[in-house]
Order: sequence, then C-alpha cells, then structure tokens
Amino acid sequence: MTFEEAQKRWKVLAQEIQDHDRRYYEEDAPTISDADYDLLRRELLDLEAAFPALVTPDSPSQKVGATPVRRGFAKAQHTAPMLSLDNAFEGADVSAFFERAARFLGKEEPAFDFVAEPKIDGLSCALVYEDGRLVRGATRGDGTVGEDVTASIRTLQDIPEVLVGKGVPARIEIRGEVYLSHGDFERLNASQEAQGLKLFANPRNAAAGSLRQLDARVTAQRPLRFFAYGVAGDIEGVTTHWDTLMRLKDWGLPVNENSRLCTGVAALLAYHADIDTRRASLGYDIDGVVYKINDLSLQARLGSVARAPRFALAHKFSARQGQTILKSITLQVGRTGVVTPVAELEPITLGGVVVARATLHNQDEIIRKDIREGDTVYIQRAGDVIPQVLGVVDPARGGRSDPFVFPRTCPICKSHLERIDGEAAVRCTGGLICTAQAQLRLKHFVSKGALDVEGLSGKHLEAFYGAGLVRSPVDLFTLEARNQTLNPPLEAWPGWGEQSARNLFDALNKARDVLLSRFIYALGIPQVGEKSAKMLSKAYGGYEPWKIAMVALRLDEDNHTYQELMAIDGLGLAMVEELFGFFSEGHNLTVLDGLEKELRIAPDPVGTMDKPLSGKTVVFTGTLTQLTRREAKARAEAQGATVSGSVSAKTHFVVVGESAGQKERDARALGVTILSEAEFITLTT
Ligand code: IVH
Repeated sequence: MTFEEAQKRWKVLAQEIQDHDRRYYEEDAPTISDADYDLLRRELLDLEAAFPALVTPDSPSQKVGATPVRRGFAKAQHTAPMLSLDNAFEGADVSAFFERAARFLGKEEPAFDFVAEPKIDGLSCALVYEDGRLVRGATRGDGTVGEDVTASIRTLQDIPEVLVGKGVPARIEIRGEVYLSHGDFERLNASQEAQGLKLFANPRNAAAGSLRQLDARVTAQRPLRFFAYGVAGDIEGVTTHWDTLMRLKDWGLPVNENSRLCTGVAALLAYHADIDTRRASLGYDIDGVVYKINDLSLQARLGSVARAPRFALAHKFSARQGQTILKSITLQVGRTGVVTPVAELEPITLGGVVVARATLHNQDEIIRKDIREGDTVYIQRAGDVIPQVLGVVDPARGGRSDPFVFPRTCPICKSHLERIDGEAAVRCTGGLICTAQAQLRLKHFVSKGALDVEGLSGKHLEAFYGAGLVRSPVDLFTLEARNQTLNPPLEAWPGWGEQSARNLFDALNKARDVLLSRFIYALGIPQVGEKSAKMLSKAYGGYEPWKIAMVALRLDEDNHTYQELMAIDGLGLAMVEELFGFFSEGHNLTVLDGLEKELRIAPDPVGTMDKPLSGKTVVFTGTLTQLTRREAKARAEAQGATVSGSVSAKTHFVVVGESAGQKERDARALGVTILSEAEFITLTT
C-alpha cells in the first residue's frame, strides 16, 4: 500500500468512526455493533502504525483519555448476587464468627466440616455455561450487575469453551477468580516498560486492566489464569461445597489444589498458618484464606446478611509492615467530637499503597507505646483498615527525651477535652461551637446516604460556615430566601454565578422531600448509621410517631419507648443511650423544629411488597421445633417484617410454637392472626 492509498483509506475510516462516535455518545443511537466498530478502529490504528505521518491531532486515535475510545461493556445481570465476604484478622474473630453461625442453627459448638481455600487476590468473574458451552463471562460489578467480558474470557487458556464429564447441567453459573501469576506479571511489566507503556502496580491491577480490554486481542496476549471456587445455584446430586469443587474439576475447570477439608475451627487456624508460611512460593498473590461451611443445606439455612454470607469467612493474613519517621502528632476532631491523635509520617509504601498518616488511636496508646515526635516507628497496614503505628524502633532514641504531651484543649475550638466514660477516647466538649464538628455535621447532613444535596461540597459548606451564612442544617433551607438581602448575593461570590447559585437552590429544594430513614441518618446521632436509621424508620412508620416516641424515651426499663427500641433486633443499649442524649439536648430539638418547617419527611416505602410478611409485625412464642429463634427471626426480617417481643393490637402475626402461653392468649383476645410454625415456614419459603 502506498502512502497515498493509505491516506485515502484513513480519511474514510476517520470520518466513519467520528460519525459512529457521535451517534453512540451524543445521540445514544449506534448503528453498528461494538465488534464492528472495534474492527474499524483496529484498521485505523494499523494504518497509523504503518504510516505514522497519518497520526494527526484530530485523529480518532488521539482523543484524550480513555472514555471516548472506550465504548464500554454491555451490562451483565448475575443469576444471584455476587456477595463479598466478612473479614477476620485474628483467630478469635474466626471462632466468634462460626460460633454465631452455630448459635443461629441452634448448635452448641462450631464443630462444622469446612472447606478452607486460598483467597486469590485477583478479580471475581462469573461464567455462564448453557448446554455445556460457555456463553457469557462477566465481572462482579456492583454484585448484581457486572460487565460482559465474554470476548476477553474466551481468551483464557484455563477456561474451557465446553464442559465435559458427568452431570453437566443445562445451565450453570460458575464463579471464580481471574489472576496473573508472579512470573507473568513481571514479564508483562518488563514488556510494558520496553514499549514505554505504563507499569502495573501489582498483579491484581494488571489482571483487572487486562480483562477489561475492549479489544480481546490485547487480553489474548496477557496470560491471565483462573481458579473456580463455586457456583450460583445447585448442582443436582451435590450436597457439599467440596463435591461442588470436585465436580468443577471433573468438568475441566481449574480448582485450587491447596484447598482442604477441615473439621472444627482449630483445623482452620492450622491451615491458615500453613498457607501463610507457603505464601511466597505459591507463585500468585493471595491475601488470606477463605473458610466455607461444607454442607450446602447448612449454607442455605444460614443465608446472608447485607452483602456477605453467614457461612463463609475470609481470614486475612496479618499486615504488611515497614519503618518510617513520625514527623509530628496532630489531633483530628470527628463529627461527634471524638478526638483522634494522628501520626504524620514520612511517606512509605506498604503493599503497593503510599502511607503518609496513621492512627494512634488514643492517648493511652501513645503513653503505652511511648511514641514521640521524631521517632522512627513501625507501621502496619492490615487488610483494608487504616494504617497503624505499632511501636517505636529504637526506644532509647539516643537519650533524647521529650514525651508527647496530649493537649487538654481542642485544637480547633479550644474547648476542654473530656474523657468519654469508660473509654480511652476523649471528646471535644465544644459541641456546636466547635467549627470542626459543626462543619462535619453539615457535611454529613447533605451527604449521599443522607439528604444527598447534589453539588454542595465540603468546600462550599466551609465557605458558608465561615461567612456565618449556614451554621445549622436549617440555615441551608432558608438560604435562598435570605439570598436577596445578602451583600453580595451568592451569585456574585467568587467562583459562583447565576447558574451555579440557581443549581444549588434547586438541589436544596429537591432535598426538601426526604425519606424518614435518610432524615434520621442525616441527624448524625452517634451509633445511628444508615442501617439502624432504616430500622427505626420501619419500626415507627413516620416522622411524627418517631419523634413523639424519642422525646418520651428515658433510660429506664419500664419506659415504653425504651422497651420498644430494645425489642428491635439489631438495636442495642449504646444506640438507645445516644438517642436519649440527642433528644435531651434543647438545641437539637430546636433544629428539629426548624427542619420540620422546611422539609417534607415521608415514611419509607415498604420494601419487597410482594412478600406476605413485608411491613408486618411478627411475634414468636413457644418452642419452635424446626427452626431456631434466630433463624425464624432472620426469615421474617428477610421479607421486611419487624420482629417484636410483645403482642399488641398492632401485631400482624403471632407464630405459635409448642407450649405457648400468655402471648397466644393475648393474640386470640386481640384477634391477631395466629400461624403455626409450619405455616410460617411455608410463608417464608
Ligand atoms: S467465595 C459468597 N472463595 O474474595 C462467597 N472468594 O472478599 C463469595 N476470592 O469477591 C466468594 N478467592 O473475588 C471465594 N476461594 C475463594 C476466593 C474468593 C478469592 C475473592 C472473590 C470475592 C472476594 C470476597
């Protein structure tokens, strides 16, 4: 091909690609398939490679950033959610986890049979096989919907195109981890370096970047590997996780050969220790081990909470450590006034992450470890948690001796610091006069899980706060009305204009309609997170009843609200105390009064409407024979029911076990529907 011929073809391609881009990005109306589009791009890139003079600044190959080039992947809905795992770092956490599982099942001891497996540090993928043929490969995504990476998946040598052997089901979704071995990772980075391309930080990132390539030919050149570790749904005739793994192996999938059957928690810990010593010689990254209860019927009974199963646990390896200089100790004031000492460090890289700050937890910790500014200290990063200072490298420190003196006053507002009862933490007593706390509370109030005011950043709030314009959440909603009288009005502030001011007011007005659970969470009451706010909202059904109950709350076992709150599963005394504290403060009630005038607080819609127990209140009484109480409660709650300890006219169902007594009589007297255990099981299956 001559240059002229190439140039002619290039022009046609460039125009075509540009048109497709417009139809795709601007008009949302593509006229060709992604694969055909990719072919056009590939041809253009090949021409440019052969004739570099064709690479002009306006070539489609030169568009800035990855986004315009990336056409994105199709979405892939998973058969069942791809869950994550709870983490444990200590043996005691492992015992506690499986003791809870045992109690849930009504067993005395966590003497389960387990499968223990290496936890591969890659990215999880779901493979769908229909009639034994691979039809789809998808990434985890948000757990419900992932990205369709079938073309990339097909390039993996480890993944069979066709399943062979006994009992291959008509349809099966196989789950596992895509990863890169240490050797291949080093070779890939060497080749990246030779070509002047970006280096990957670690094998995990390299694997993710390689799989999520729109051009599967790139993936094909990356030697990605795969370990299968489970399936979504059942395999006929298979009743244990171990047999699931054996089946996967029979069908031709790679299963990790270091997986073991273990009985009891002690055996798990021995397995963990053993794998930890062999970790460096495995040839691929693992970040811990995973324990799974072997019996699939127990797994099904245990089910899952939030995003993690009750039958499986990740036991991480202890952290990566290093030494660095502690430059200074600063104090950080949190939203609730808790003051945390923070080590400002000479930056150090631990396990691929740069660490410049680490928590010192509290005053006692600093004294106990005798940590001083200027010391060289050991730092540890454990899993995903905040880096910690373990201790001082040279406690003699060449005779230098000036221990750290913990300030008595808040670094921000100069109020006294006081020790929280029975805890090592100290709290700034400044409350709302502490600007750090006040600003963090405002920020929390408008944050995503709370009122979710779009476009209102921490920086804006700081500026409004500094100008005395917004001191409490109520002020946010009177801002627009006050704006006319401001000198200058918001639109004349530096960085603001008509449009941005309008957008802010619109966003605030939109936020005036808020669900009760979000409103409760927005108040920032210590211990009341999103989940508990939802429970409170569900239990009281509306703002008015909730507030009336909260105002009536006393820390007294005879108090009605106290009893109601303590009867809600998942709410504990610590939270009840905080709720009481919040509602005993006059200024909080003033803020609530102000907010009531500005907002429209709506009850949360009752979720899972189609389930027979959703939104209903259920009471269990008597001895259940087929389910434990915990199990029964979890089943009811999974449908969105509230489980209560006492029967009232508001109770919807009373589930009656053997030798029930007074509660059953109460239910009959009040005309509440009575269910047998068997009926309850039917309703919740
Ligand atoms: S089981 C419901 N087994 O770890 C159980 N996960 O922290 C789901 N992982 O998203 C996972 N090795 O990407 C399981 N042997 C193994 C694993 C493993 C690595 C990853 C997986 C998952 C994450 C959860």
